[in-house]
Amino acid sequence: MSYLNNAATTWPKPECVIDSVRDFMLKGGANSSRGSNSQRDMNTMNIILDCRIKLAEFFGAYDDDPMNVTFTANITESLNVVLRGYLRPGMSVLTSSMEHNAVMRPLRALESHGVNVGIVHADSRGLIHIDDFKREIESSKYDLVVMTHASNVCGTVQPVNDIAEICRAHSVPFVLDTAQTAGVIPINASELGLAALCFTGHKSLMGPQGTGGIIWNPEFAAKVEPIITGGTGSYSHLETQPEDMPDKFESGTPNLPGIAGLNSALEWLNVTGLQKISQRENDTGRYFLERLRTIAGCSLSGMPEMTGRLPVFALNISGKDNGILADELSRLGYETRPGLHCAPSAHKTLGTFPQGALRVSPGYFTEEGEIDGFIDALKTL
Ligand code: ALA
Repeated sequence: MSYLNNAATTWPKPECVIDSVRDFMLKGGANSSRGSNSQRDMNTMNIILDCRIKLAEFFGAYDDDPMNVTFTANITESLNVVLRGYLRPGMSVLTSSMEHNAVMRPLRALESHGVNVGIVHADSRGLIHIDDFKREIESSKYDLVVMTHASNVCGTVQPVNDIAEICRAHSVPFVLDTAQTAGVIPINASELGLAALCFTGHKSLMGPQGTGGIIWNPEFAAKVEPIITGGTGSYSHLETQPEDMPDKFESGTPNLPGIAGLNSALEWLNVTGLQKISQRENDTGRYFLERLRTIAGCSLSGMPEMTGRLPVFALNISGKDNGILADELSRLGYETRPGLHCAPSAHKTLGTFPQGALRVSPGYFTEEGEIDGFIDALKTL
C-alpha cells in the first residue's frame, strides 16, 4: 500500500510519536492541574509546558512566551475560536477565494449575523496577486484578514510575507491558516506580526489527530472573547472565565495523549530539520511532476513546477471521473483523495468545480519507487 494522501493527514508518524502516546496512556495518564500534585500530575503538567515551549520556539511566539500558545483539538477549532471570538456584527473581514471550509463556513455563518465578508480572488493557478490584495485592503475598511498559507487542493503557496507587510502597514490584524505549511515552511508569527497563527498537529507537524492550537499576539488575544468556557483547573472559586493566558482559551481536559505525541513530534522535527524536510518534499514533488508528464490527457491544477507550491497535486484525467479513479487506484494499493476536499471556493477558482479533482499528496516518507508505481497504475487505468 502506498499512502499518497498526506495533505489529509500525514502517515506514517515517527516512532517516537507513537511511543509517547502509548507511554502517556500506560505510565502517565493523570489530568492537568486537576489532582493532588502527585508525581504523575507533575509529569502531565511538564509535558504540556514542554510542548508549549517547543511550539513557542518553533513558531516564533511573541516575546518567546509559551503562555501565548493555546491548545485546541484541530485547526478548525482554532479558526472558529479566533473568528467567532473576534468578529462582531458590522465588522468586515477579508479572505481569499482559495480557502478551505474551515475558514469559509465560520465566515458565512458570521455573515448571516451581520459581518461583512470580502473576497480577494486568486488566479486560475490559485495564486493571490499582491496588487489585487493591496487594492482590496485600500478600497475598504477591514477589521481582519484571514487567509490560508497554502492551498489544501493544489498546494499553491501564497505570498504571506507581502500580505503580512501590507496588513501591518494598514494596522489590520492578520490571521494565518497554516494547516498545510506548518512543519514544511518556516513561519515566524512575531516577525510576520500575525494576530494569530492557527495550526493543526496531525499534518506536517507529524503529531496525532485531535491536536492543534493558536499562537497569539497577546494584544489581539485580549480583544477576543472565548467561545468555549468552563473549568480550567485554575481560579476554581470563580464562576467567570479567567482572563489569564492560556487559561482564557483552554477549558476542559485537553487531549493529553495527543499533546504528549505532539511534543515528541516537535522534537523529531527539530532534530530532522525543516530544511531537510522541505528539500525532500520538494525533490519528491519534482520527481512526481517529471513522471506525470508521461501521462497523456492529464491536467494539473496549480503551479506547473515546484516553485511556489507544495507537493499537493490536483489532477484530472480526460474522460475519467476522479472518484471512480481514486477507487480503482485504492484497489491497486494507492491511497489518494478525490472530490472537492472541503474547499468548493478553491475548486471554483481553479476551474475544477463541481467535478473536483484527484488529489495526490506524497509526504516526507514517500519513496520514488512509490511514485513510479502510482504512475504505472495510472497508465493501466
Ligand atoms: N483538510 C484536509 C484535507 O485537505 C482534511 O484533506
